Amino acid sequence: MFKEIILFICVLLVTGTIVNGQNCNKVTKLGCVGLNEECNEENVCVYGLGCLQNPMYPNNKPPMSVEASAVDNSQNFSPVPATICQLLGNIGDPCANSDYCKMPLVCTSASSGNTKTCQQVEYQQLGGDCGSDTDCMETLECSPFEKVCIPSLSDSNVRNGHQCLYDIQCPYNMYCNTTMTQFRCIDRATVGQQCGSIMGEALAVKCQEHLLCTVTEMIDGNSTCVEPFSLAEGSVCSTNNQNLQGVNGMFLSPCKASVCNGTQCVVPQWTMPSMNCSDNETNPMGCGQFESCTCTNDTYSGVCDAEFTPTSDVFSQCTQMSSDFIQCAVDNKCQSMYQASLLPSSCIMENCGSHVCDIQAKCIYASPNQAPMCSEAGFSLDKYGVCQNHASAADSIRVVSSLSFNENFNINKIESRTRISWAKEAVTKKDQ
Ligand SMILES: *[C@@H]1O[C@H](CO)[C@@H](O)[C@H](O)[C@H]1NC(C)=O
Ligand SMILES: *[C@@H]1O[C@H](CO)[C@@H](O)[C@H](O)[C@H]1NC(C)=O
Ligand SMILES: *[C@@H]1O[C@H](CO)[C@@H](O)[C@H](O)[C@H]1NC(C)=O
Ligand SMILES: *[C@@H]1O[C@H](CO)[C@@H](O)[C@H](O)[C@H]1NC(C)=O
Ligand SMILES: *[C@@H]1O[C@H](CO)[C@@H](O)[C@H](O)[C@H]1NC(C)=O
Ligand SMILES: *[C@@H]1O[C@H](CO)[C@@H](O)[C@H](O)[C@H]1NC(C)=O
Repeated sequence: MFKEIILFICVLLVTGTIVNGQNCNKVTKLGCVGLNEECNEENVCVYGLGCLQNPMYPNNKPPMSVEASAVDNSQNFSPVPATICQLLGNIGDPCANSDYCKMPLVCTSASSGNTKTCQQVEYQQLGGDCGSDTDCMETLECSPFEKVCIPSLSDSNVRNGHQCLYDIQCPYNMYCNTTMTQFRCIDRATVGQQCGSIMGEALAVKCQEHLLCTVTEMIDGNSTCVEPFSLAEGSVCSTNNQNLQGVNGMFLSPCKASVCNGTQCVVPQWTMPSMNCSDNETNPMGCGQFESCTCTNDTYSGVCDAEFTPTSDVFSQCTQMSSDFIQCAVDNKCQSMYQASLLPSSCIMENCGSHVCDIQAKCIYASPNQAPMCSEAGFSLDKYGVCQNHASAADSIRVVSSLSFNENFNINKIESRTRISWAKEAVTKKDQ
């Protein structure tokens, strides 16, 4: 007799792994497990849960002692897992330590002796309202009377006449010139001005907050401040770690209707899914620059996988949505918009959170072949309570954490604890 078993699988991407001499990247299948279920390297907790020490585990010993406890308990033995999926706290929920809070919340107490709760920290920029120093971004502090974030400078900094030590201590569209005898906030470079390291200059020139500094001429490799999505196809560009990335929905590129391949703005070409990219004799060129060869199954047949949406109308809509988001950040003078940890009370989330949610809902691209993938067709953030009310701080966390323009763009560095989040694909397996 055969029994149908529904297996929920999700998938961990192991990039760059060459399997058995074949040149496709193997995808490792992982289980997604739910509340109070055992979790480990192969069974990953779904979103909102963390894989944490089981409070019922005998003496909270390491996993190897499971066998030992089995012997002790003789007959009715059912092993007690060392780690199980447990609910992670939203803002205001009590916590033992930060492991029990949704990233990037921190377990802290307002004053010593108070119960610790999951809280946002270091989200407020210069001039923003604060209750205590921990509300202000690093290198800022909360002024005792006005209760706004101000630069945190030591007495000796002040004696030396320094106005700043870090860029974040300067007003919007300014940065800190630390080569002067008295460090001063100076204007950032505008569109068309040279940026980056300039010969004979001790200080690298920084562009206005929303601009990108990209190489724009080949002769000397000089860089210029450009508007996002402004350079025509064929223009010189450098990725500058600001290449278009579709994984988390946010598109950012110096190029217009194209992407920067490292040297030039190009329209990416996509390989037909029928091509077996593991077969390098038939297909010596392999996959395109914005694709990777993913093994489709255990026979190591590879297909070329797009890194971001290969659908041109989604691409252009999402580019527009990113532009709208950037404009919102500019209108509200939100600083460090491409690096910010976008906590719910930050300038960006308070003012432009709806843009962020729109982008997440529309622009996350997940390859059908790789599917970690909690995010492609049919996936709805609303289902997970995210973005239903983006003003609700607690629920915006997932969005916050996944939207990162971080320089070394890292698929969800925030979710590294549970790298793979939601259960995704239901497959059926026959079992005797
Ligand atoms: C194809 O790939 C295999 C394994 O990586 C390699 O040994 C072989 O030399 C490659 N052949 C060609 C024609 O590139
Ligand atoms: C920074 O200050 C130094 C010293 O005054 C000056 O020479 C330099 O041009 C300034 N840098 C920029 C980018 O303005
Ligand atoms: C590159 O920048 C240097 C320093 O500002 C300048 O002298 C040079 O003319 C620039 N080269 C080009 C091709 O614009
Ligand atoms: C980028 O595209 C141009 C034009 O298609 C091409 O000549 C160049 O080799 C590409 N650069 C890289 C790094 O692939
Ligand atoms: C794809 O190519 C690899 C390497 O040549 C081969 O092992 C595999 O069987 C091929 N798959 C298909 C479906 O042809
Ligand atoms: C592996 O993929 C190839 C090409 O998609 C397909 O022909 C083959 O049946 C698959 N093998 C298994 C075991 O799924």
